[in-house]
Amino acid sequence: MRAVRTVTGPRWTVVRMPRPVPAPEEVLVRVRAAGLNRADVLMRDDTYVPDDAGWSVATDRVGFEFSGEVVESTGEWSAGDAVLGQAGGTCAEFVTVDHRLLLRRPAGWSWTEAAAAPSALLTEYDALMHVGGFRPGETVLVTGATSAVGLVAVGLASYLGAGRVVGTTRRRERAASVLAAGADDVLVGPPLRAEYTGTGFDVVLDHVGGATLTAVIPLVRPGGGVVQIGRLGGGTALLDLEILARHRLSLIGTTFRGRRLPELANLIDALRPHLSEFPRRPLIDSVFSLEEIEDAYERLASPELFGKVVITVDH
Ligand SMILES: NC(=O)c1ccc[n+]([C@@H]2O[C@H](COP(=O)([O-])OP(=O)(O)OC[C@H]3O[C@@H](n4cnc5c(N)ncnc54)[C@H](OP(=O)(O)O)[C@@H]3O)[C@@H](O)[C@H]2O)c1
Repeated sequence: MRAVRTVTGPRWTVVRMPRPVPAPEEVLVRVRAAGLNRADVLMRDDTYVPDDAGWSVATDRVGFEFSGEVVESTGEWSAGDAVLGQAGGTCAEFVTVDHRLLLRRPAGWSWTEAAAAPSALLTEYDALMHVGGFRPGETVLVTGATSAVGLVAVGLASYLGAGRVVGTTRRRERAASVLAAGADDVLVGPPLRAEYTGTGFDVVLDHVGGATLTAVIPLVRPGGGVVQIGRLGGGTALLDLEILARHRLSLIGTTFRGRRLPELANLIDALRPHLSEFPRRPLIDSVFSLEEIEDAYERLASPELFGKVVITVDH
């Protein structure tokens, strides 16, 4: 089969390799599309090494999420089922994945939309519901709300019954897209506006870190929490520990690295009933073929990126 590998340079290249053979609990999927993530870029730059998350990932393979059709079935799946999920090396013609880690493609979603959804939906659902302890009616602040995962976070918080969802962006011209994703309001900054210090947010989903994390701590209500998901703005931050202590705030980091299969399967089961109901499709920035993978990398690095970069796979 054709698959993308990082070769010396570093550079992403389409190579030929044997089609993977599914283990007893695994399903073979014909990949139709694969979403690209920051993690792919960081892996290429040697600054990120994925830990085993229930699948075997060669560190020179590209792609962590996919949509496609079941070829060889196991468990509840039949040949021809349209599915989506996370796996290692999804920029390829075929992947194998444990049957418990697959989700059914929602009716009406294209292959491209389905491939853009798994990482963002799983990350943000887990961050909000499990790590952040969100309850319907609570208020949610999403930093970096125009990022691919941020837009999904805004939509999910709104869908799951948040009393108020506010997103942050540095670019006023992108505020309308954050509102369209489901936000009630948008904070354009830095600086983040002081009137939000009133009663404060119950949960903050932080995708920016750095100075943005410093700035959001005073915006959290006493007893509320910040879930640290991404570090687009920097991996270190000054924290006002006086406010943290006085307001009894929680600050919890999260990642999929190191998660084991049973935990991922439970998370996917929790998300499963919501997927067909979730009203918002992921925002697609651009679509490239497998052979255009280097163009896709350049687009991922562009400051104009807005939404997901997706690779389509012809057969
Ligand atoms: N923990 C996990 O499990 C997990 C899973 C998936 C992703 N992530 C992380 O989540 C983050 C978002 O990923 P993504 O792929 O969705 O990102 P993305 O789409 O590439 O994000 C682009 C957006 O980020 C904002 N941004 C970029 N640099 C920034 C800076 N220095 N300060 C503030 N905002 C900045 C920009 O928003 P504006 O220009 O509109 O401000 C831009 O629109 C990444 O850090 C990624 O590694 C974590």
